[in-house]
Amino acid sequence: MRISPKVYTIGQTWLAIRMVKLPKIHIKSSEEIAKMRVAGRLAAEVLEMIEPYVKPGISTLELNDICHNYIVNHQNAIPACLNYRGFPKSICTSVNHVVCHGIPNERQLKIGDVINIDVTVIKDDYHGDTSKMFLVGECSIMARRLTRITQECLYLGIQAVKPGTKLGDIGAIIQKHAEAHHYSVVREYCGHGIGRVFHEDALQVLHYGTAGTGIELVAGMTFTIEPMINAGKRFIRLLPDGWTVVTKDHSLSAQWEHTVLVTETGVEILTKRKEEQPFFS
Ligand code: MF3
Ligand code: CO
Ligand code: CO
Repeated sequence: MRISPKVYTIGQTWLAIRMVKLPKIHIKSSEEIAKMRVAGRLAAEVLEMIEPYVKPGISTLELNDICHNYIVNHQNAIPACLNYRGFPKSICTSVNHVVCHGIPNERQLKIGDVINIDVTVIKDDYHGDTSKMFLVGECSIMARRLTRITQECLYLGIQAVKPGTKLGDIGAIIQKHAEAHHYSVVREYCGHGIGRVFHEDALQVLHYGTAGTGIELVAGMTFTIEPMINAGKRFIRLLPDGWTVVTKDHSLSAQWEHTVLVTETGVEILTKRKEEQPFFS
């Protein structure tokens, strides 16, 4: 989600705007959580399903079509990205120096590419949003390292989630890990509250920041953590198609995303895949 700018005015007017316009963070009921679990599992299953197809020679458009048909016909669900604010396809496919929101096209994957596939499904009105990196054939040590460190950034962020944690704690942990490896954190996009609404603006999860600052987590919150980490500088550029975000210096970029629920005791990953079971009970 693109970070929303804050608008401040002065004095009484500011108070009025703040009271009227500041949206409340939505705490999910147990009925809503049950639906979020279903939507999250379906999104995870799309990534599990597509894995064997991510091979040299396949186009990102073909990957899109396979995911689309699986979501619509097999899951009886809705691909949330299709027509979302005009996005033309059902998944995002971000290859190599593409940071996020890559539009599936005719170009074929080749050995050595790294690709993020980002899937959001709507089931019974609720959203599940998740993405992972796939390595296409043998990849460079550099690409594998960036992919691994970025996944660690996501996992470290998730491990911090529990009631009482501040949003700034999550960002600080992610930034520290990325920068310790001389990588940079993309600032313009953030994780987001999620539920009946795809991007709940009231909850923005920055992937950088200061520990101990920001909103305190409460059981029943659902949001994504989705760090975008660059091998080079953090700066990005939007392509003329209005969607594709690339690194300004053309360095490699990686992203991993999960939808999580804050529980009474910690965190539940709503989009956990089978391959992750050994790491998260
Ligand atoms: N799934 C992306 C996210 O993590 C959003 C994609 S919006 C789209 O928030 F329109 F580009 F599909
Ligand atoms: Co998201
Ligand atoms: Co996503």
